[in-house]
Formats: sequence, structure tokens, C-alpha cells
Amino acid sequence: MTNRRFLILGSAGQLAGEFRRILADRDMTYVAPTEERCDITDYDKLRRCIDETEPTVILNCAAYNAVDAAEDNPEKAYAINRDAVASIASIAAECGSFLVTYSSDYVFDGAKGELYTENDEPNPLGAYGRSKREGELAVMSSSAKYLLLRPSWVFGHGSQNFLYKLGGWAKNNRVLKVSSDEISVPTYTADMVECTLVALDRGLEGLYHLTNSGFCSRYELAEHYLNTIGADNELHPVPMSTFPVKAKRPGFSAMSNAKLAAALGASIPDWRNAVDRFVASKE
Ligand SMILES: NC(=O)c1ccc[n+]([C@@H]2O[C@H](COP(=O)([O-])OP(=O)(O)OC[C@H]3O[C@@H](n4cnc5c(N)ncnc54)[C@H](OP(=O)(O)O)[C@@H]3O)[C@@H](O)[C@H]2O)c1
Repeated sequence: MTNRRFLILGSAGQLAGEFRRILADRDMTYVAPTEERCDITDYDKLRRCIDETEPTVILNCAAYNAVDAAEDNPEKAYAINRDAVASIASIAAECGSFLVTYSSDYVFDGAKGELYTENDEPNPLGAYGRSKREGELAVMSSSAKYLLLRPSWVFGHGSQNFLYKLGGWAKNNRVLKVSSDEISVPTYTADMVECTLVALDRGLEGLYHLTNSGFCSRYELAEHYLNTIGADNELHPVPMSTFPVKAKRPGFSAMSNAKLAAALGASIPDWRNAVDRFVASKE
């Protein structure tokens, strides 16, 4: 792991923040330019940033994640999740930098009804999922050396994720309704960083699902999280159709992490354990 120089793109996001914390703790060399300095949709800025940094590894943590807003503004989703990813891959190939980039469980339609593997054919239901899938294809058809990792329901330190929203709702409402038919794998940024770093150490390349282990509904996640933080709200399971939203979402988009776990030679912690560590790290 010595002599690696990381460039973190999308430095203000939750995954990028975890990379900054962990790399700094381990005295590893990284540069994390602001979006203003390195807007990934601005080819010239991006190129300059990579030329100046000469990274051995580019960690693309930048993304457009607004699933519903993407339906009204698909151009923005495609610009960030597809076109900019294609630019990063082409510059990485030219400069000989290794590219790590992240996709999403929303490339799947949820029809399988059991854990998705890397061999399953994507079929995104909305503009966000389509933009992420096209970003994947851009990376896979580039000449860059890459790791393409698919996480789901990402949570970590930051300001915006389902657990923060839930904490806010729980403070303001005694009774909460949460969907029990929307199922995936909550995935902790600290585990994403750890798995990414070990994957780099082991020289892995290609497509892997990077999630915590197990799976759950939003309702089960809410129940576990509220118990862990000691909140005593009344929680009711409801169908996701209770909350009308713009984008169609897969009902069951949980992915198997077996391929990555085997390649890392270690199991990846269960989502409940990940939530517990996240809560403990905030205390
Ligand atoms: N969050 C989830 O539940 C989830 C689920 C599945 C997959 N993922 C994937 O996991 C990865 C990490 O997600 P995350 O939760 O850490 O995302 P995040 O917190 O939303 O961070 C993404 C960052 O990218 C920045 N960004 C947007 N456009 C940019 C641009 N043109 N140039 C540079 N930076 C830009 C965003 O800034 P602004 O906030 O200013 O736009 C934000 O700070 C992403 O690839 C995401 O798609 C996330």
C-alpha cells in the first residue's frame, strides 16, 4: 500500500469524507480537491487536476444521487454519472492511473426476488439507475484499469442519508410509517473504504458488489436503528406505495457480496453490526 497517491473526486460527499478520514489516519497520501476546483463535468478542470496530482489511484466518489429529481433532470444525472465517468476513465487510461468508481443497486429492476450477483443483467427502472448503468458501461468499455463497485443504501458520516432522515422524523413525530416492501442492503462507508483498500492491495480489477452482508426492508432498518439510538417511537410497516414519489424503485435490489468476500478472503460485516458501529462512532 506504500507509494500510492490517491485523488478523491467528489470530496464533500459521505464516502469521500470517510476516505479522507481513514487515509489521513493511516498517513496515506491523498489529494481531495473541492468541486469548484475539480468539477468532474468540466473536462479541462478534471484533466488539469489529474495532470497536477499524478495519482496512482483515482477514487471517484462524485455522483448525482437524487433519484426522484433525476426524472425531471436526466441531463444532469447523465452528465455526472455517465459522461464525467467516461472522461475520468479515458484520462485515467491515458495517465496510467488506476480507477475506482461506484455504481448502485438501482441498476437492477428488483424482479429477480433474490440476491443479485455480478452475472445478473441490469435493467434500471428510472433515470438515476440508467445513468449509473451507462456510467458502468463507459468504464467497462474504456482502456482504463478499474474497479467498479456496486454499493446499496449507503450510510456514513455526512448530512444526508436514510438514517439521518429517520433520526429527524423520529424527533418530530411519535408515530412513524416506514416501507416494509423496499428491500436492499444498508452499506456503511467505513466498510466500503476498508474493502476498497484491501481490494487494491490484492490487485482486484473488474466489477464487484460491495455491500454489507444480509439484507432488510427499510422498516427493519428503521427498527434496528431506532432501537440502537434508544428512541421509543411507534413504528408501523407500510407498503412503499404509501409515499408517492416520482421515480420507480426496485422492490428487492439486495445484492450478494460473495464474489468480493471470496476475493478479499474475509467476510464483510452484517448490516446490523455496521449500523451499531456507525451509531457508536457518533457518540
Ligand atoms: N447514497 C446512497 O444511498 C447510494 C446508494 C447506492 C450507490 N451509491 C453510490 O455510492 C457512491 C458514494 O455515494 P455517497 O453517498 O458518498 O454520495 P454523496 O454523499 O451524494 O456524494 C457525492 C458527492 O459528489 C458531489 N458531486 C456532484 N456533482 C459533482 C461534480 N460535477 N464534480 C464533483 N463533485 C460532484 C456531490 O456534491 P453536491 O452534494 O454538491 O451535489 C457530493 O458531495 C456514489 O457513486 C453513489 O452513486 C450511493
